Amino acid sequence: MAGYIPQDVIEEVRSKADIIEVISEYIPLKKSGRNFKALCPFHNEKTSSFMVSPAKQIFHCFGCGAGGNVFNFVMMHEHLSFYEAIKKIAAKVGVKLPETTKKNTATDSLFNKLLRANELAMLFFHRQLMESTKEAASTRAYLKSRGFDRNAAENFKLGFASAKWQGLFEHLLKEEISDKVMVQAGLISPRQGGGYCDKFRNRLIFPIFNSYDKVVGFGARVLEKGQMPKYLNSSDTLVFSKGKNLYGLNVAKKYILDKDRVIIVEGYTDCIRAHENGFNETVATLGTALTIEQTRSLKRYTKNFILIYDADEAGELAALRNLDVLLPEEVMPKIAVLPKGTDPDDYLKNSGADSFNGIIENAKNIFDYKLQLLFKKHNVSSAEGKVKISQEFLPTLAAVTNAVLKSTYIKKLAEALGVAEIDILSELRKFQKSGYRPEIKKSENKKKNIDLAEKILLVIMLEDNTFIADAKKKLSIDDFISDDIKPVISKVFELYEENKKVEPAALIDELSDEESKILISSISLDIPEIKDKKKNFSDCIMSIKKRVLNLKLKNINLQIRSAQQNEMSDKLHELTKEANFLLEEKKGLIKK
Ligand code: GTP
Ligand code: MN
Repeated sequence: MAGYIPQDVIEEVRSKADIIEVISEYIPLKKSGRNFKALCPFHNEKTSSFMVSPAKQIFHCFGCGAGGNVFNFVMMHEHLSFYEAIKKIAAKVGVKLPETTKKNTATDSLFNKLLRANELAMLFFHRQLMESTKEAASTRAYLKSRGFDRNAAENFKLGFASAKWQGLFEHLLKEEISDKVMVQAGLISPRQGGGYCDKFRNRLIFPIFNSYDKVVGFGARVLEKGQMPKYLNSSDTLVFSKGKNLYGLNVAKKYILDKDRVIIVEGYTDCIRAHENGFNETVATLGTALTIEQTRSLKRYTKNFILIYDADEAGELAALRNLDVLLPEEVMPKIAVLPKGTDPDDYLKNSGADSFNGIIENAKNIFDYKLQLLFKKHNVSSAEGKVKISQEFLPTLAAVTNAVLKSTYIKKLAEALGVAEIDILSELRKFQKSGYRPEIKKSENKKKNIDLAEKILLVIMLEDNTFIADAKKKLSIDDFISDDIKPVISKVFELYEENKKVEPAALIDELSDEESKILISSISLDIPEIKDKKKNFSDCIMSIKKRVLNLKLKNINLQIRSAQQNEMSDKLHELTKEANFLLEEKKGLIKK
């Protein structure tokens, strides 16, 4: 089980470890101006786009978009959890990690508080199931009847939530978790007329871990047939997102690496059953189709995805369409098909591991699979059928970024239809010209479109924290136009309020989502050294304020026009006054 390290110890380890020294142990770094450069260890490249800043203690690859601080590098390079990476670096720099402490420290971030509440909840539910309490007897019998033994319950830390209204609530209060934290973790809900009640009652509990072995949420199944909903899942919280997390990844990740493939199923029980049968490289999505975020987290371990489909699935082709958006991520999805109406759990129980293995071995890659379905749907011997098949196949072809793969499948399609390759190619060009874009571009091309003034402002604040107070006084979060930078700026303001030092490497640990972390490493290494900070700072503030005022003016002018058309003179008067006020403000801004 992952340990728990107080924030100040994390900071001590980070400040004692030099990122240049640590990264140099893995790859050769070359000095380049103020920074160091290397061939990126996280993707194949011929020219160096991997940069490390000794001053800021961060790295960023402008080729593949990987980035972060020293912990993130070691985590990615060695496929370690956050805890494991800190342990490793702590040993290197001679910091002794304290024994797991029980209580939250005041300096703990909300993120850590939620993780701790979840961990305690998981242990509580798990204990209730494993200890021979009378209440849990029927749940133990249920698991047994489905063929899940004690071992499965142990490995996946399954649990039991009793029918009590406040069982978990009272337990967590004793552990000194505040009700506010419990609500934010999604463990309890406020009750009408005051007080709280447990969210999960009288259910079998499947704790959901993130890839770093922290409990982030729960799935909870009813025990009796007919009760609704069958599964009650944690709602999204600061630490949990059903589109990002994957069930079983914490256990599966080392097997995924070993076997260089991942099996993706839909249900918790499917996932556990697969593990029980030796398919330990299995994860489950959480009630949604595989998302881009999940794809990105999986492709750190392998590019070979095997999706298990139930042939009964309504609109197989529609389901496949979802997969087109994964192709720009350069993963190779394969589809394994089970007989109508069976899920992996049923299949493994009834037909066994060997037979399931046969299904996996028979998995077809997405192109072959889709072609096969299209040939079933349309009549390939008619001209009309040929046109339809090619038209429906074009979006998939267009989404492929790898040129070799693309031409292989153009050739295959041409052969199957009995037409010339060049004709497919020209249709593909037409299709791409008509404005089709794969929904998500390759991460390397996905340079965030962030307003330059906002970028420079952030860099200046991080290089010299004395600017933060002034920025906070003059701007509000809503004045920033780039949505991606807003969470970062508000974290900067928040840490400053708490009298904490705000540096890129520390900020990266404070932010919970990957996108924000990478935004910091990329911006910090992208903007050249800013000499005259004072001048640049006020230019940025001015530029942002001007834009805000211009937007407001534009908006008011639209309203004025409509008031004129509708002859609303009172309203017109009011709006004109406001417009004049804004114009004055703008003049003042320019004079300053
Ligand atoms: P059982 O074998 O009946 O225990 O379930 P299963 O694991 O086969 O799940 P099923 O195929 O019914 O559903 C697959 C996944 O969809 C589940 O693991 C859940 O994540 C999700 N899911 C299923 N039913 C519900 C529901 O009622 N509400 C929500 N939110 N999610 C559900
Ligand atoms: Mn099932």
